[in-house]
Amino acid sequence: MKSRANFKGHPLHPILVCFPIAFYIGTLLFDILAKTYSPEFLFTAYNLEIAALIAAGIAAIPGLVDYIYTVPPKSTAKKRGTKHALTNVCVIIFFTVALIYRAKNEDPNILILIALEGIGVIFLVFAGWMGGTLVYRNQIGVDPRYADAGKWKEEYVEPSEGEIEVGTINELKINQMKLVHVGDKRIVIARSEKGYAAFNDHCTHRGGSLAGGAMICGTVQCPWHGSQFSVYDGTVKAGPAKMPIVTYALREENGKLLLSL
Ligand code: FES
Repeated sequence: MKSRANFKGHPLHPILVCFPIAFYIGTLLFDILAKTYSPEFLFTAYNLEIAALIAAGIAAIPGLVDYIYTVPPKSTAKKRGTKHALTNVCVIIFFTVALIYRAKNEDPNILILIALEGIGVIFLVFAGWMGGTLVYRNQIGVDPRYADAGKWKEEYVEPSEGEIEVGTINELKINQMKLVHVGDKRIVIARSEKGYAAFNDHCTHRGGSLAGGAMICGTVQCPWHGSQFSVYDGTVKAGPAKMPIVTYALREENGKLLLSL
């Protein structure tokens, strides 16, 4: 069983995105200064533009990791993440075209640069808005706590025939959960007052990650819109979800948790 970082999202993502945002906007501002006051500001804008594109490439790496591994599959957040990524690509395209134009012309038309970068910054605002929504509404990149200050746990297990070992009986306290990836399945292992339970990490409303929600007295609540499900049989206890979640058989033997898919 392999553990990934105990953090729901790549910890470098929120740090690294600050740099391209600052450099993109700085490029536009220095080109405006070059147009308004002196062409000497073009040199700073040129270097900021190179820095912005390099920083954007670096920030895209944890972004891609979050998109693939953290954003729940088949969810509204996945669609939002796709739009966020494509909008960022548009930003890169406009600033790259501006950079090429600048590099090929000794005396560039600054208004063309400002126009290209201005459109890029408009895309940047939309990309930032969607990125913020992914964090604040979809809770990608938050660091949740369960009852008893339990921390986020995520593990990867190779799928196999028969029962699969997914943990030990003492690793979770009551009302704590962990997310286990078995092949391409995301399964929540949860401990309630009645023992352990296993269920799909997919809210049937819009695909929220139930492992990122809260559990109390055998009921798990989705963090996105508050649907509640029984962790024992998957029935809906409160909407907006209408369909039950899928549950799995889990048993304990010699201190180990054994999951049947
Ligand atoms: S996704 Fe809406 S309640 Fe879970």
